[in-house]
Amino acid sequence: MAIKIKTQEEIELIRKSCELLSKTLAEVAKILKAGVTGEQLDKFAEEYIKDHGGHPSFKGYNKYPASLCISVNDEVVHGIPKPDEFKEGDLVSLDCGVFMNGYHGDMAYTFGVGKVRPEYEKLMRVTKQSLYLGIEQALVSKRTGDIGFAVQDYCERENGFKCVRELVGHGVGKTLHEDPQVPNYGRKGEGQKLPENCVIAIEPMVNLGRKDVYTKRDNWTIATQDGLPSVHFEHTVVVKNQKAEILTTFEWIEKAIQENPQLVKI
Ligand code: MF3
Ligand code: CO
Repeated sequence: MAIKIKTQEEIELIRKSCELLSKTLAEVAKILKAGVTGEQLDKFAEEYIKDHGGHPSFKGYNKYPASLCISVNDEVVHGIPKPDEFKEGDLVSLDCGVFMNGYHGDMAYTFGVGKVRPEYEKLMRVTKQSLYLGIEQALVSKRTGDIGFAVQDYCERENGFKCVRELVGHGVGKTLHEDPQVPNYGRKGEGQKLPENCVIAIEPMVNLGRKDVYTKRDNWTIATQDGLPSVHFEHTVVVKNQKAEILTTFEWIEKAIQENPQLVKI
């Protein structure tokens, strides 16, 4: 399938979805702490999105049962919200999508609950930084491999972590997953060429230990084979000539983290 180039009107609609999405995750961050359950966060996120005129993109997508993907510790992505309480030391990845006015936005952020081990904090910092290094490559005439290389080189060669191979970033628009696929590994100059005004989600999933993952018995949750933690950050961005435009924002989430004594400040 060809990469869809968006009009400025379409980009503005995606921006609106991304804005509500960014606010939703920030509101969730305000209530995230040890003792809260994934199901509680999911219910809260769904209501917040609906109250503000949006629709949770993930709910019903391939029969996915929730509005958030909540992936804890060794879970990489696509964790189904559970009745279990988060506990001190957990790494909690929240992934969410908002559909509004015909267009999706997609983002993810990983939080540390209470106090987490120093190597987990480093994994969070490095993965988030790798997302921004990937975004720096989201330029006209660059290729998806340039993004993948930037993410992988920083996470693996510079920092000794491992990027997950089985799951990739993607185009975003009228559907949640469009072309191109955006792997978190690769070689410079390989993959599809990026046109101006295509909208893509870049989403490094990075493991502390080995790169290998498996699907849990619920047929959704992806987890690391070695049981070591994994971290996930994601932005929706517009490809431009000089500098990609980031449509989602971590600003409100990070303000909420600053004001929530129960979350790790990275
Ligand atoms: N958020 C995931 C992504 O970034 C998609 C979730 S799949 C769903 O691509 F089924 F859970 F919706
Ligand atoms: Co995505």
